[in-house]
Amino acid sequence: MEKCRHAAIIMDGNGRWAKKQGKPRTAGHLAGADNVRTIAIAADKLGIEYLTLYAFSTENWKRSADEVNYIMKLPAFFFKKYMQEFIDRGFRMRIIGELDALPAATEQVLREAEESSRSNTGLSLNICMNYGSQREILLAAKAYARDVLENKADLSLDEAGFEKYLMTKDFPPVDLLIRTSGEQRISNYLLWQIAYAELVFVDEAWPDFTPEVLERCLREYEERDRRFGGIRNV
Ligand code: IPE
Ligand code: IPE
Ligand code: MG
Repeated sequence: MEKCRHAAIIMDGNGRWAKKQGKPRTAGHLAGADNVRTIAIAADKLGIEYLTLYAFSTENWKRSADEVNYIMKLPAFFFKKYMQEFIDRGFRMRIIGELDALPAATEQVLREAEESSRSNTGLSLNICMNYGSQREILLAAKAYARDVLENKADLSLDEAGFEKYLMTKDFPPVDLLIRTSGEQRISNYLLWQIAYAELVFVDEAWPDFTPEVLERCLREYEERDRRFGGIRNV
């Protein structure tokens, strides 16, 4: 059984969760943000070392200005409420995505969260904000091309070398990818990093994704036979 060091979650279904309760979509995002704390604590207790959460994609700018503005304000609310607790728990926050395209105040809050937990060695809690995997790979290719032009790299680059250009360069590969709320697609998330991840799709919307559901996903992961192209483990 391969240990799950790195779990990634596509936190989907906030809007549908809210609608079901007769509330505006933003109420779903608020409940979803609170659930990040609950699940981060649970993941840490379950021995996960890296938890990478999809909070806002490069495609999510297509939504209404009201919804986007609300989501952009959530990090300030979230870190004000929980950052001290995260630091006390030894969590290290890392933000993945193109932060300079975010509203300045949002970018600042995210960078501060990273900075204030930089020396922590516990759970690496990675929030993907304005993240798109195709964009990440394109930026990596451009950075590599630049290094070649400047004679800092050559054509001997291999997979491990290429990973150093990705935004996730400090993380091990994703072992388990979970998507909530019934949809079975990847939506431009961690395309390189999930090459050999086990995929688990659950029906619960993100605000209803409890520590018990996370444990269920981990049990399912543990029952899988990961082969990495080799032959069956017996
Ligand atoms: C996930 O929930 C949060 C973001 C994508 C920002 P959604 O907002 O996508 O909720 P549904 O999928 O519309 O229910
Ligand atoms: C994926 O969810 C992005 C995040 C959870 C941040 P979406 O709701 O944006 O994905 P699609 O549009 O259903 O593929
Ligand atoms: Mg969605």
